[in-house]
Amino acid sequence: MQQKIIILDFGSQTTQLIGRRVRELDTFCEILPYNKFPHDDDSVIGVILSGSPYSVYDPEAFRVDLSKIRGRLPILGICYGAQYMAQTYGGKVEPAPSREYGRANLTTFERENPLLRGLQENSQVWMSHGDTIMAIPEGFRCIASTDKVRFAAYQGQGDERLWGVQFHPEVFHSTDGTQLLRNFVVDICGSHQDWSPASFVESTVAELRAQLGNDRVILGLSGGVDSSVAAVLLNKAIGDKLTCIFVDHGMLRKNEFRDVLHDYECLGLNVIGVDASAKFFAELAGVDEPERKRKIIGKGFIDVFEAEARKITDARWLAQGTIYPDRIESLNITGKVIKSHHNVGGLPKEMNLSLCEPLKWLFKDEVRRVGREMGMPEHLITRHPFPGPGLAVRILGDITPEKVRILQDADDIFIRGLREWTCEDGETLYNKVWQAGVVLLPVKSVGVMGDERTYERAVALRAVTSTDAMTADWAHLPYEFMAKVSNDIINHVRGVNRVCYDISSKPPSTIEWE
Ligand code: XMP
Repeated sequence: MQQKIIILDFGSQTTQLIGRRVRELDTFCEILPYNKFPHDDDSVIGVILSGSPYSVYDPEAFRVDLSKIRGRLPILGICYGAQYMAQTYGGKVEPAPSREYGRANLTTFERENPLLRGLQENSQVWMSHGDTIMAIPEGFRCIASTDKVRFAAYQGQGDERLWGVQFHPEVFHSTDGTQLLRNFVVDICGSHQDWSPASFVESTVAELRAQLGNDRVILGLSGGVDSSVAAVLLNKAIGDKLTCIFVDHGMLRKNEFRDVLHDYECLGLNVIGVDASAKFFAELAGVDEPERKRKIIGKGFIDVFEAEARKITDARWLAQGTIYPDRIESLNITGKVIKSHHNVGGLPKEMNLSLCEPLKWLFKDEVRRVGREMGMPEHLITRHPFPGPGLAVRILGDITPEKVRILQDADDIFIRGLREWTCEDGETLYNKVWQAGVVLLPVKSVGVMGDERTYERAVALRAVTSTDAMTADWAHLPYEFMAKVSNDIINHVRGVNRVCYDISSKPPSTIEWE
């Protein structure tokens, strides 16, 4: 049986990060709403309580009965999780004199405590809390303090396998956070650390074979990492019984349809490429409103996909590259459970297809590791995210084939440049940024080329760093690189005489301009 850690989510922004850290310890985990603990699941080896936007004394704060867990499984409370247990078991939590945010050092701690073993002297931890634990329950023991926080970490009664930490071991700035989580997950909970890309591929291939038997499966490929890895995994399980459909809506990057189709064929996938660009150009003609563009492309995409899918008369399953973060029910501050599960993409019910989501337990970085494990080429695995409506939302104003051509040429220079520019640490700029692209602006400006006055278009380069696209910062690209790209674009792309760089972060801006 696959061992697992359960992370109970009280609504903190870092809950997913706890999950990723546990997975990095080659241990499977599930993130569940705070009140959904699976009491009859014998594979659970430990429980982590997340932080929360609430104070434990707020009337509407999330509360949970831990009595069936305490004493049976090891528990680690992080921030709110620690405060919640402290308060529930008879301690005291109050607003801190000032909100503590940022780095702190564990000045004193019990070195041989199972949770803290191996932590460095003055270990740096990350604090982010408005409340503080003023007193811990009777019989509990303080095991670490910082200059400002007396109860930075505590343990339950005696050797009880219950701990609380006021800081956030899951964030990168807690330098020994991984060691602390390893102590909990591996030493205390007894994880066998057998969750690996290889074991995932092996068990998933076996499960898919059992689930799908001899049935035919269809899958829509987008060129992105998730759908590509899902396809290769399914291909490994059921070979030619998988039919992939890759639609060109005409708004892809330069040569992308041809190149990606070629990649898929080299991977041995049974793939149908559908060039529907003429249909999309016709439907988008004269449309400049961003949401209408999105709707036209979304609906057109489903129409084309459905028409192809109907030709595959023996199809029983629709496979999708849905990944874990798409499915996690995250709690927002109003207490509502938000579910952002992608759905069957609007395929008609009468087609009677069942849904197959082989990547539904994986985080993005795990999808990449699984892709590598299966020998997929690196350029497919490290591809930047790309919006479904493609270049349509990067052409401000109406769309014409000529504008798409200009944008594709400029974008190609920028992206190739990022791939070819190697930084001092040996990594390419492409791999250092989360996402990049060029935006065609609806303005013309005056320039001079040779002895000629020009009156042509301006483009904006956009490159951002991010971990999940929820927030993003503009990438600090080297000036020499930007100078080269700007020169190359203006010299080689007919119709462009000015290049700008977008220095807005998200929020308040967004990654895409439309
Ligand atoms: P924003 O612009 O909202 O983008 O900061 C966040 C991430 O989502 C991508 N994006 C889209 N993806 N359909 C998609 O499939 C869309 O309509 C869409 N709009 C934005 C964007 O590229 C970025 O990765």
